[in-house]
Amino acid sequence: MKKKKISASMMCSDLAHLKETLAIFEKNKIDYLHIDVMDGIFVPNLGLGVDYIRCLRDVTDIPLDLHLMIREPEYKLSWLDIKETDIVSLHYESTGQIQRALDVLEPYGCKSFIAINPGTPIYSIEEVLDDIDGINMLMVNPGFAGQKMVPSTMRKMEKMHKYLLEIGKEDLEIEVDGNITLEKAGILSGYGANLFVAGTSCLFHGSLEGYDESIRLIRDTINQ
Ligand code: DX5
Ligand code: ZN
Repeated sequence: MKKKKISASMMCSDLAHLKETLAIFEKNKIDYLHIDVMDGIFVPNLGLGVDYIRCLRDVTDIPLDLHLMIREPEYKLSWLDIKETDIVSLHYESTGQIQRALDVLEPYGCKSFIAINPGTPIYSIEEVLDDIDGINMLMVNPGFAGQKMVPSTMRKMEKMHKYLLEIGKEDLEIEVDGNITLEKAGILSGYGANLFVAGTSCLFHGSLEGYDESIRLIRDTINQ
């Protein structure tokens, strides 16, 4: 049974209270900090970058879950100070050479994930399943917090679960990212998801005082 884990989406956090937020996450043993790296080309937004990552490394030991929404990530990995305890998600759609990109990522020793957009068929990644530790299933079109889930992604997740079981790959980690409410987290956990990106939909929706309780609720829901 895969351990169910939480990845807190830092683009949704309150920068003015970064240290207090991280202290709460450390106390509650949050598994990863989800870092949405965006280049304004692969997605229509700019996001967290090199200096922010360096700053986080100085103030916390929580591993990073780097979601790279950038064109041709294989040429930019060396900018990111990747650690062996991190996860790095490369988008299938972000390069014409996904297998080469995974080869370039491999020496960093981190967990290698492939992220796929809502419109990308699950079978697109069939040929690289032996090269990855996990799949990041985008439940929204990436680039912004606070969006509504693309409805077909729930069906797609169920299909992915069946497919991985059929081919004996059910041990791959499955991350779900975008509009993960408590209710959806419970259903997705039943479909084999084990890493849940907690953004505005289940964690960052009130004051810091509510985070302990929100984390407790997410944990209870995904472990049911
Ligand atoms: C989407 C981002 C998510 C987002 C999730 O591009 O990758 O990390 O912040 O948070 P909510 O719950 O706001 O969709
Ligand atoms: Zn993300």
